Amino acid sequence: MDQRLSEVTTKLVQQLQLFMEESRITETELSKALQLLTEVGQHNEFQLLSDVLGISVLVDNITHGVESDGIVTDHNVLGPLYREEAPFMELPAVICREDEEGTPLYISGQVISAATGAPLANAIVDVWQANEKGYYENQDEDQPDFNLRGRMRTDEQGRYEIRTIVPGPYDIAKGGPVGRLLHALGRHDWRPAHIHFKVSCEGHVPLTTMLFVPGDPYLGSDAIGAVKHSLIMNMERHDDPEQIQERGLNKPFCTCRYDFKLKQPQSVGKPKLASEGSAL
Ligand SMILES: [Fe+2]
Repeated sequence: MDQRLSEVTTKLVQQLQLFMEESRITETELSKALQLLTEVGQHNEFQLLSDVLGISVLVDNITHGVESDGIVTDHNVLGPLYREEAPFMELPAVICREDEEGTPLYISGQVISAATGAPLANAIVDVWQANEKGYYENQDEDQPDFNLRGRMRTDEQGRYEIRTIVPGPYDIAKGGPVGRLLHALGRHDWRPAHIHFKVSCEGHVPLTTMLFVPGDPYLGSDAIGAVKHSLIMNMERHDDPEQIQERGLNKPFCTCRYDFKLKQPQSVGKPKLASEGSAL
């Protein structure tokens, strides 16, 4: 027998029955709920359902802890659009096309050991994002393979640098059963603009996270509730013609400095929960 499965199932059913009794759930409502879950399965939207119910982010927080202390960079969900084996690039890593639509964005910073503050050379920074219209390259026939994706290694001072564009927000539910549920709840299905990162270095706990574009209208109502204050980029806009020319550009651009602070196994952060490592 699977002890853990037995324990959590018993607890879940108890809570569920209590909720149904308190809310006086009717036969018709139960029937509708089961129909919805059936459709969610048929449309392969269980991950999406977990996301919009805030469950994915909650479990990410339980698993990795919420630091919000500035010492360790906060973790965040991977999302469904990550692709392995993005091309390795020299610094600065230019992950978009020369004529990519959107505001040019330069992100730079260091990968740092949270425990010592020491910069981490040879760390791998893996980045992926949507274009200005909110589409990842694997959702959009107009973008080349691996556009707006790339990997790089930090230099001796732990530095990385990326040349990209400011991504756009995007909607996640489209017209499926989860979208209909959100509509019935009076909720939208938009995610604020963000850039995903996986950062890893030997001797440190790998970090998966995402950085958000400041000022995005959906920052306060992310459809999956993933926004953490510590992950909103400190982005600066540059309109000065001289600076624009210096960068070899013909339009205003943005810069952002962000340092990724990795923890070492069990050296920094919260103690592991007893539930971690379960087969569930
Ligand atoms: Fe995303």
